[in-house]
Amino acid sequence: MKRSYRYAGLQNAKQEGFSVDQCAARLHRFAYAAERLMFLQAAHIISTPERDVKVLLARLQYEDSQHASQFKARLPELRVSKTKAYQAPDAALQVVFDEAMYAANTVELLAGLTKVFKPALLEAYQRYVNKTNGLADYPTVRILKTVIAEVEDGLHLLETAYHAVVDTPEKEVESEAWIGTLRNLLAAAGGIDGIGEVNLNALQPIRAATPYLIPKQLTRDDTFPRVWDIIHVDNERVEERVMQMIATRLGETTIAEALGFVLYEMKDQPWEFYADISRHLWDEMRHSVFGEAAAEAIFDERSVMPIRDWEAAYLFKMSPLELYAMLFGVEAGLMKYPPGKREEFEFCRDAACHRLMTTLQDFDWADEVLHVHIARRRLKEWFDGSPEELQVLGQKGLDFRAKARALHPQSPLPDAGGKIRGPQ
Ligand SMILES: [Fe+2]
Ligand SMILES: [Fe+2]
Repeated sequence: MKRSYRYAGLQNAKQEGFSVDQCAARLHRFAYAAERLMFLQAAHIISTPERDVKVLLARLQYEDSQHASQFKARLPELRVSKTKAYQAPDAALQVVFDEAMYAANTVELLAGLTKVFKPALLEAYQRYVNKTNGLADYPTVRILKTVIAEVEDGLHLLETAYHAVVDTPEKEVESEAWIGTLRNLLAAAGGIDGIGEVNLNALQPIRAATPYLIPKQLTRDDTFPRVWDIIHVDNERVEERVMQMIATRLGETTIAEALGFVLYEMKDQPWEFYADISRHLWDEMRHSVFGEAAAEAIFDERSVMPIRDWEAAYLFKMSPLELYAMLFGVEAGLMKYPPGKREEFEFCRDAACHRLMTTLQDFDWADEVLHVHIARRRLKEWFDGSPEELQVLGQKGLDFRAKARALHPQSPLPDAGGKIRGPQ
């Protein structure tokens, strides 16, 4: 049948569909599931050694936070109070996601995401779109259409990652066992949309006797050679300076990981706080991938570029507030010109004449402006003390940072062999 433009093309305009309350009840659960998936993925970035999975988790946690934001914003339009919209819908779903936090390794983490949660989300979203009156409930359907497309895309990527990681019969057995546990719990909680029967007897946590804690240990695979720090040079040594910039970008993965602590360890903040930190986290991981992409573009393989680890020596030892105040100090410092972010961009454009790095540094600069705005907003709500006290806290962090950096010598940068040509 040809699709008509009558009813503005909206589907299911003549079916009874859900009531407002039924829509709200489902959407409330969708919001909560997306929120908990954000926490699950963000908290496990640190303990996932596989580079490409780490990066994927950073993207997916951000996309889930965006979905949660969209659902939460829709709820007050369905006569749900804003306070209720931002709370957990019921204790049953909570048990499922508390247990999921205890994924012991990448096999279990990917098993839960790929074989349990993301397919269950898609099924529940699709069921909703099919059942609701597409004319009456147009705003939700519009949100779900874009969310479904993004979750489908993410699930394809997760499936590829799953097959790369779960590559032995032993790992398959491990994966199957965890899938079974989570599937049973999710079914006992009534499923993502809550249409199943709740079975409280089967809804017993197995590992999650206490809230999950992130292990504060740096995990890396051997994608990149690991060094403490890299040598710093002046702008006159153009080629080396570009290499340094690339290696610095690559090392931003540690900042993303540290933001995972801030996101997960800061309890009882308003939703906007988590949505902002989730974005900040993904941006820092993207900056790390800037370094990876630039290295691959220059050397044809990314593994030439070393990844520096020294930042874990202080970032992983700070409280979330200290860490964030310190990051704010560093990022605000990068706004000064010269040197700062603008100068890095101009150097790539005018001295190194490296087109890819010029684009990447241009966006890096834009992102950092955003981060300073986010941090200013967040710290104002979060920190009770005066601006001077905040500065003292930030400075304490910066001193700690300088001390950590000096613990071991710096390593040389890879030789670009004249590939960065400068102005011709
Ligand atoms: Fe960054
Ligand atoms: Fe930043």
